[in-house]
Amino acid sequence: MAVTDKAGWTAAIDGDRLWRSLMDMARIGATPGGGVGRVALTDLDKAGRDLFVSWCKGAGLEVRIDRMGNIIGRRAGADDGAPPVVTGSHLDSQPLGGRFDGAYGVLAGLEVVRALNDAGLVTRAPLEIVNWTDEEGVRFAAGVVASGVYAGRFDLDYGLNLADREGTTTLGRELARIGYDGDALCGGYPIAAFFEAHIEQGPVLEHEGATIGAVLGAQGQRCYAVTVTGEEGHAGTLPMALRRDAMVGAARMMDGLNRLAFEFEPTPVITTGHVQVRPNSRNTVPGRVVFSIDARHPDDGVLAEICVKALDLCHGVAAEGGLQVEIAETSGRDTVTFDPDCIEAVRAAAARLGLACRDVYSGAGHDACNIQRIAPTGMIFVPCKEGISHNEREAAAAGDLAAGCQVLLEVMVARAGLA
Ligand code: GLV
Ligand code: MN
Ligand code: MN
Repeated sequence: MAVTDKAGWTAAIDGDRLWRSLMDMARIGATPGGGVGRVALTDLDKAGRDLFVSWCKGAGLEVRIDRMGNIIGRRAGADDGAPPVVTGSHLDSQPLGGRFDGAYGVLAGLEVVRALNDAGLVTRAPLEIVNWTDEEGVRFAAGVVASGVYAGRFDLDYGLNLADREGTTTLGRELARIGYDGDALCGGYPIAAFFEAHIEQGPVLEHEGATIGAVLGAQGQRCYAVTVTGEEGHAGTLPMALRRDAMVGAARMMDGLNRLAFEFEPTPVITTGHVQVRPNSRNTVPGRVVFSIDARHPDDGVLAEICVKALDLCHGVAAEGGLQVEIAETSGRDTVTFDPDCIEAVRAAAARLGLACRDVYSGAGHDACNIQRIAPTGMIFVPCKEGISHNEREAAAAGDLAAGCQVLLEVMVARAGLA
């Protein structure tokens, strides 16, 4: 796929090379079901990072690691003091995730650099390719924290001191353990623009036969940790009427939260995906359950109303069952709107390449949702099979991934200019 613009420059990304990189990366943490389990700051995440760093160096990038462990590969510009044009996404995954969520955006950035190297082109502004630390928020309760620190949304101390769910370690300690506790500045300097390429993780593009999604924004999100406390007892001797079963209470809350979603139009998405049970034994009545709530809706006012009702519901169920409940907000973000010029740049690049493009909203959260606070930001979506994501079966077509990568090259070069 080659493109020549009015100024006569040509640079073509290599779709086969991009696919090979994705498949090589997917071997690290490969799951039996064909997906990837490369949870942030595990040994597998370290192996993925090491591979990415070696590829960056091979492509001539100067690599730095910042205080949140973000890996930044920099390609010098002719005007190297100019604010960089930045792209990137995440190499960490869900425990049973797919091969493309996150890895695509990082490796598409690398492919842009490789294509520019092949074409012998130097941009005016420097380019930076980022692997953001812990986008998924599986181990440390809140995701997109490292890009949040970079964008000034969170303090560095907050990010580094985030505890894991077991309360046995912190994000900062795990970064040090895997050797990615860098000392470069985590944000705090101007960047010209940020673009993130990602699979859509929803069905709209595939359904409408579009190859490129120009992403308008992302819906708001609120996450909570709910701790339900009852009392442990013997499964054989404690009569049903005398029990204060935390698991039963939590299950009633989960069912109520699922029903609550259907009271609103458009229907929000509410997920209770993570549960810890104490003591988690067949023959002991559960004494304590901690579970997560993830609620999302495109209207911030409606989302606030949903959350009030959700918390009331949990308190009501607890009171009925003689249980105690504590609810802590673990993360949250208002609805995000991306930069009109960046959105238009994606549409224009797709048009120039003859690719069917449509505007889409993101149901998922992304590091781009943080970076849009400090720089003009846009996202490029490509279809994924049946909209399936956060699933080992997640799939995307090599041709679509290549098309999105070429759009990424176009918009980055357009922003950075050519020397
Ligand atoms: C990120 O995958 C999210 O939770 O949307
Ligand atoms: Mn992602
Ligand atoms: Mn994800």
